[in-house]
Amino acid sequence: MDRRQLLLTGFAAFGAGALGFVPAVTSSPLSLTIQGARHRILNDVTEDMVSLSPEAPPPVIRLRQRHPFAADVTNSLLDYTAMHWHGIRLPNDMDGVPYLTQIPLGQGDSYRYAFTPEDAGTYWYHPHCMTMDQMARGLTGILIVEEEEDPGFDADLAVNLRDFRLGDDAQFIELYTAKGAARAGTLGTVMTANWQTELSIDQPSGSLVRLRLAATDTTRIYKLFLKDALGRIIAMDGHPLNVPMPWPSAEKPLLLSPGQRVDLALKMPTAEGQRIDVMAQASGGALALVKLRAIGADQRRSLDELAELPPNPLSEPDLDQAKTGEFVFGWSPEGDAPNNGFCGSLGSNFWSINRRPWPGDAVEDVGPLGRMKLGDSYILRLRNESPNDHPVHLHGMTFKPIRSNKREVLPNWSDTALLLRDETIDIALVADNPGDWAFHCHVIEHQKTGLAGYFRVD
Ligand code: C2O
Ligand code: CU
Ligand code: CU
Repeated sequence: MDRRQLLLTGFAAFGAGALGFVPAVTSSPLSLTIQGARHRILNDVTEDMVSLSPEAPPPVIRLRQRHPFAADVTNSLLDYTAMHWHGIRLPNDMDGVPYLTQIPLGQGDSYRYAFTPEDAGTYWYHPHCMTMDQMARGLTGILIVEEEEDPGFDADLAVNLRDFRLGDDAQFIELYTAKGAARAGTLGTVMTANWQTELSIDQPSGSLVRLRLAATDTTRIYKLFLKDALGRIIAMDGHPLNVPMPWPSAEKPLLLSPGQRVDLALKMPTAEGQRIDVMAQASGGALALVKLRAIGADQRRSLDELAELPPNPLSEPDLDQAKTGEFVFGWSPEGDAPNNGFCGSLGSNFWSINRRPWPGDAVEDVGPLGRMKLGDSYILRLRNESPNDHPVHLHGMTFKPIRSNKREVLPNWSDTALLLRDETIDIALVADNPGDWAFHCHVIEHQKTGLAGYFRVD
């Protein structure tokens, strides 16, 4: 099979450039090489990791809002890959989805990703090919788009939350299981923050910290709360809040599902040695993932000194005129999954959207789940008829949850809607970005066993 040919079949109706974006030109594109890595997470060094340098986690990449960005991504692995910039509204051919928006990169191949981010906030990057392998082995990193105006923090910290599936010898054990894929997914054995099991960060007493937390794990839905913290939530999934979110507690933790990000404004304790702990509820009880420790003299800052983050330039959906569509997430008749691409499959189908599984990354013979007219408003009813939770993610566009049959949902902009068991959530959006946009569960084992599809906007 020729991967170029495969792309063209899936691509037939598609021209190159997308409208409405300034082409990104920059004199110095970043050079990123996807490569094997080793790193010490437990007592011994873990081999066979995947990162962008030989011994370190994928770096935090910082962009400026409305400034062109470019990166040449080179694949040095034997397996195919492609890089995706999660949550960023960008031209379709920069989205990194194999077969749908580009051909996957073989060993030695490079692709230049270039775009100008319109929205500020916390995003992330990860491959969109061989994901169950490359993401599980480490290739998930944080991407920050800085506001044009400095919001006034003393420090801006990014924390990448994720698990690894390691055995007692600190080496990888099987990365996924059929049992997990058919249920809630296969959890990691070691929880980490920035690839560390005990992340401790010192900050001046009484200073103001912006803490960006990204859940980049393939499976875990984090249940987060903070101990001894003074602060507030300022952004969710990249975007400043439209309506305030409640401060999480041990009893009512914040659910941060795979793919999601939250930005917190924190005031450090005023006395040296005091701490704020970022806690996660896990099976063995609550665990401190990050410890922020106050050092030095009290800086006497106040949260009131922070200006509100400016809203991103998103289009408000017109709910009266919106067209509607329903998408049902459920089981699939079990069976072997055809794998007609180079991006890996788990071998079986367990999941479906509207009763149809879409396990591979190759779009041959599989049409879009729906077509949207450029500029029109839509309400998508996302119905989970399974007993498992699904963080459903849409590429290329940003939506607002507007109602749920189970709980109060807040209309804050997002790219990932967490559907709890038997939950139905309506999301509203303006189809303002032309192209073929992937739409899938971000529990990667679900995505790779059928819970995936795409929309065509034209
Ligand atoms: Cu985080 Cu389809 O991606
Ligand atoms: Cu994405
Ligand atoms: Cu799922």
